Parts: sequence; structure tokens; C-alpha cells
Amino acid sequence: MDEKVVKVASRLCMIKDLGVSGNLFGGNMMAWLDEVAAIFAIQVTGEENMVTVHYSDMTFKQPVKERDIVDFYCGKVRRGTTSVTFEIMARCEEKTVFCADAVFVALDRNGMKKKIDWAEPFNTTK
Ligand SMILES: CC(C)(COP(=O)(O)OP(=O)(O)OC[C@H]1O[C@@H](n2cnc3c(N)ncnc32)[C@H](O)[C@@H]1OP(=O)(O)O)[C@@H](O)C(=O)NCCC(=O)NCCS
Repeated sequence: MDEKVVKVASRLCMIKDLGVSGNLFGGNMMAWLDEVAAIFAIQVTGEENMVTVHYSDMTFKQPVKERDIVDFYCGKVRRGTTSVTFEIMARCEEKTVFCADAVFVALDRNGMKKKIDWAEPFNTTK
């Protein structure tokens, strides 16, 4: 397993993103994280077509408020045959507000799962 963790993207929590509680709506957080996780899955594998197959242990640890900047970090990569598994975390000012494990699968141009070519590992220090 590759223990490295990298910052992939950030989002600004705006009024339109809030739910009835006044916190960031959980569905918005899930949409953000799925987009960020897809970016990371593509970059870490070098595959052009990666689809979400599984998320485990989604935990909303702390509320996100209007004007918070949410930074998404990915890492702890586990290489599979057709899949890649990694951890995704959201942080606000170094406080972890959300975390989950993500599994993405590589598809070929016909939409069929394919073996990932791990010959050229992604440089997570870039
Ligand atoms: C992704 C998909 C092609 C996988 O097809 P499948 O025949 O079910 O594939 P498998 O059961 O052989 O699993 C493929 C890989 O995913 C992993 N996987 C599948 N389900 C999993 C789960 N619930 N948890 C963890 N890993 C899982 C398998 O371990 C396998 O990994 P490996 O090849 O590295 O060993 C199919 O499930 C699919 O099309 N799902 C919909 C994807 C989608 O639309 N996502 C939302 C939009 S991006």
C-alpha cells in the first residue's frame, strides 16, 4: 500500500450548498467527493475511464459552514487488478470533516472492466 496522501482539490462552501440545518448539505459533500475521487482515480492509475463501484464507512465528522474552504485529500492507495482503492478525506483548516474509502474500476472503450496497467506509477509528490 502507498501511504502517501495528496491534496487533490478544494471547494468553497456557499449559501447554495447548505441544507436545512445550516450546515453543508450531505448530498453536496458526496457530489464533491465523488468528482474529486474520480480525478484522483484517473491520475493515480493513468486510466481514462474510471467509475465508482464502492464507498465504505462514510463519516461526516464535523459540520461544514458557509465560507468554509473544504480541502480534499486522497491517498493510502491499494492497487487491484481492475480496481483501485484509496482513502478520501475532507478537511477545513486542518480539521477532518469527512472521510471514506473509495473503490474505482477501470473500464475500456466498450464499458467493460479492464486490467489496470500499473507499469507507470503515479508520482504523488507532483
Ligand atoms: C464497475 C463494474 C463494471 C464492475 O463490474 P463487476 O462485474 O461487478 O466487477 P467485479 O465484481 O469483478 O469487480 C471488479 C473490481 O471491483 C472490485 N469491487 C467490486 N465491488 C466491490 C465492492 N462492493 N467493494 C469493494 N470492491 C469492489 C472487485 O474487488 C474487483 O477488483 P479487482 O479486479 O481489483 O480485484 C460494474 O459494477 C458497474 O458497471 N457498476 C456501475 C458503475 C457506475 O455506474 N458508477 C457510477 C458512475 S461513475
